[in-house]
Amino acid sequence: MKAAVIKESAPGERRVALVPETVPRLTQAGLDVLVEAGAGDAAWFPDSAYSEAGATIVKTSDLYEDADVILTVTRPDPAQVARLRDGQAVFGLLAPLIDPRLAADLAARNVTAVSLDGLPRTLSRAQSMDALSSQANVAGYKAVLIAAAAYGRFFPLLITAAGTARPAKLLVLGTGVAGLQAIGTARRLGAQVSGYDVRPASKGEVESLGAAFIELTSVAGAAGEGGYARELTEDERAAQQAELTGHIARHDVVITTAQVPGRRPPLLITEDGVKSMAAGSVIVDMGASALGGNVAGSVPGETVVTENGVTIIGAQNLPSTVPAAASSAYSRNISALLLHMISEGALKIDTSDEIQAGVVVSHDGQVVHPAVAKLLDGEGGA
Ligand code: NAI
Repeated sequence: MKAAVIKESAPGERRVALVPETVPRLTQAGLDVLVEAGAGDAAWFPDSAYSEAGATIVKTSDLYEDADVILTVTRPDPAQVARLRDGQAVFGLLAPLIDPRLAADLAARNVTAVSLDGLPRTLSRAQSMDALSSQANVAGYKAVLIAAAAYGRFFPLLITAAGTARPAKLLVLGTGVAGLQAIGTARRLGAQVSGYDVRPASKGEVESLGAAFIELTSVAGAAGEGGYARELTEDERAAQQAELTGHIARHDVVITTAQVPGRRPPLLITEDGVKSMAAGSVIVDMGASALGGNVAGSVPGETVVTENGVTIIGAQNLPSTVPAAASSAYSRNISALLLHMISEGALKIDTSDEIQAGVVVSHDGQVVHPAVAKLLDGEGGA
């Protein structure tokens, strides 16, 4: 069986699905590993490192011809999809619940699509495959570094002959995987850190990292299914925004990470919230998207400075900006999932397995994932 690593096609994407270090895990399991020439270059993994690890560097046309399984980080582009052949499989973060049309295209080509973002993350045997967590972890780390770089003062308390600098007060809104890593990183840089989340369970996690937890009186806990948050009602949202504004005003740096699966990111910092901050404050919106993010006025991929001197950074694809670490972690995730799904040298699709039921999107010419199929039905069918 041949597993092939393609060069990512998304503009600016620097990650690669498999790093040389992981190649022996696959070859020892009997797989041949093919790598599209230059696939790892942007993440600092040269072709020679893959060859030394036991992979074969191949031309693009040969790769699509020979591969049984294609490994990718993000969605293949239309030109790559057009090269896929009947019976091949694609593993990657395919985001079928954000845009299900790729799943329909792959099903129509009789390509088996396996998407790591559907993994049942709370299952302990699936943790080594959890790419959403590994990438969120990288993103949370990098968000703090870009905040620190944009902030005009120090993060730590510094006592020098030229005077004492007080530590930056940093607030993390949304303390899931990315938020907790942001808290840890900001603490290591010496900032005075607070965190807030709607899930009651997060209080203990925030405090265990040595940060203060902010409790709002206006919103009771809002835990949803599978460990995620639920969407707040209109009234809860307004009360949360109003109460948060008071806290935001007291901070120098705010990092927002709040997400609700399948919904647009909740607005946590309103225009009034931004206006309440002092000149020189910095906000990093990790939820920034074309549909709107966690922060009023944030623009994905851009840095905006408001009239009152607040820098709002619309973070976009932060994992790709730490490409070697993000790729290494992803590589372990995708190879663990691939090995889990191989039996006697071939891919064995079995959606009675809880892990496979979450990740297999298309197979045998059909969109088999119920939530994706439902979404496509809503769009008028595949
Ligand atoms: P996420 O990326 O979906 O959301 C980020 C955070 O935003 C979450 O903590 C969520 O509660 C919070 N949030 C949503 N709406 C909010 C609002 N209106 N105000 C404030 N905060 C809001 O979440 P992520 O990081 O993917 O993880 C979510 C949960 O899944 C966590 O409980 C995490 O611990 C759990 N998890 C468990 C795993 C395991 O058991 N192995 C693995 C991965 C995640």
